[in-house]
Amino acid sequence: MAKNTSDEQFKNVISHAKEYGFVFQSSEIYDGLSAVYDYGQLGAELKNNIKTYWWKAMVQMHENIVGIDSAIFMHPKVWKASGHVDGFNDPMIDNKDSKKRYRADQLLEDKITRYEKDGKTDKAAKLQSDMDDALKAEDLAMLKTLIEQHEIACPVSGTKNWTEVRQFNLMFSTQFGAMAEGSEEVYLRPETAQGIFVNFLNVQKSGRMKIPFGIAQIGKAFRNEVIARQFIMRMREFEQMEMQFFVRPGEDQKWFTYWKEARLQWHAALGTSPEKYRFHDHAKLAHYANAATDIEFEFPFGFKEVEGIHSRTDFDLSQHQEFSGKKMQYFDNDLNEEGKPYGNYIPYVIETSIGLDRMFLLTLINAFEEQDLSDGEKQDSRTLLRLHPCLAPIKVAIFPLTKKDGLPEKAREIMNNLKFDFNCMYEEKDAIGKRYRRQDAIGTPFCVTVDHQTLEDDTVTIRHRDTMEQQRVEIKHLDELIASKTSWKTLLRK
Ligand code: GAP
Repeated sequence: MAKNTSDEQFKNVISHAKEYGFVFQSSEIYDGLSAVYDYGQLGAELKNNIKTYWWKAMVQMHENIVGIDSAIFMHPKVWKASGHVDGFNDPMIDNKDSKKRYRADQLLEDKITRYEKDGKTDKAAKLQSDMDDALKAEDLAMLKTLIEQHEIACPVSGTKNWTEVRQFNLMFSTQFGAMAEGSEEVYLRPETAQGIFVNFLNVQKSGRMKIPFGIAQIGKAFRNEVIARQFIMRMREFEQMEMQFFVRPGEDQKWFTYWKEARLQWHAALGTSPEKYRFHDHAKLAHYANAATDIEFEFPFGFKEVEGIHSRTDFDLSQHQEFSGKKMQYFDNDLNEEGKPYGNYIPYVIETSIGLDRMFLLTLINAFEEQDLSDGEKQDSRTLLRLHPCLAPIKVAIFPLTKKDGLPEKAREIMNNLKFDFNCMYEEKDAIGKRYRRQDAIGTPFCVTVDHQTLEDDTVTIRHRDTMEQQRVEIKHLDELIASKTSWKTLLRK
């Protein structure tokens, strides 16, 4: 059956995620906390597998990239130096009737999407370019004018009664230290990158790293988003997987192009159709960048950013050098074309930054399929998560055909052997067909059924999720068969 990418399908994915224990609203029994989510028993596994895929591809497969885990709390001066205290703002606007707050650029982007859907491509392009100009110039009055000119109404009140556009800082702050007087205001980090920049020399020296080299990390970030929507797409607490690649000044463009391609390849290896991805080069550059592009994925609500690749120049290290008074320079004793050492310099940085939660959402949406299995005689269907086997939360489900005759014991014996290498699930309730359907719905690539024949000849039936094909195999070959499909080599060798 053709994939339905409508709003309806998105709603189905969200309810599927809850029903099967992938994602829950945070504090749901208290009516939830807006834009904060918890990952359930299968969600935590899927998330870990995405992290592992990223960590292996970005850290372990590269001799010149290492990973760290820096603290969420950092010295307040870090955020002054990085520009976040003064410049990490979103333009916001309130509707005076509904009292609802919106991001001005988001209202305009929604209008652009609507123009595109209605085939008004000229209008969409003109509005896009006017909005980019206004954002680049930080012209808040112009943003308001554009909202008025394009007759954008509040989705709640339906009126066009707007306040002025104002800047709103996205960082959360809290008090550090127990004593009211002695306590200091600190921020919850809005990106993990700064933990890498401040540790640049620690890692370079202790790891004897030579340029070009990278430092990577996975961790939580916090942003007080003005509007939060589309499920786990825009959250106030989320996770990032970031890598800063330190290069010689002048070689930044070369590495920017390299990482653009490498990161797209990481996505492509999962088998997603290439038309689902595109690059979106930034017209408005962040305060730290000289080039930037987004890798966008076609979600049911349109093409949206999943990952950013930014050429951050020497901005961050220079700022930290200035604000801390500590040298952030690297001594490069490799010889240049004139046969002289490159000498001391502050490296340039190419950053790859992907939102783990967005990647999780992309993965669920891409895998979700409602398949019609009806034939001429009977109606049938199944809901399937066509996850790459490396990402699947459960790799193999083990079923005894019945709950008696020693079949459960034999099934557990098989599972106790497989569970060292593969995340397994044991199930003995309901008919086999029902058990297959439940595993299809959570993306388990293999189901192993133990029956009476197993007791005689040590063979089992292995059933493949995507084809529903069943195969009789010897128990001693199970390990090898499952490993051949779930090994990280299947993804990382591509
Ligand atoms: N260090 C650079 C940086 O943070 P960014 O484009 O602001 O760049 C990088 O964020 C990625 O983090 C985005 O591509 C997105 O996937 C993810 N991200 C950003 N804000 C998010 C939010 N509020 N909720 C979920 N993911 C978010």
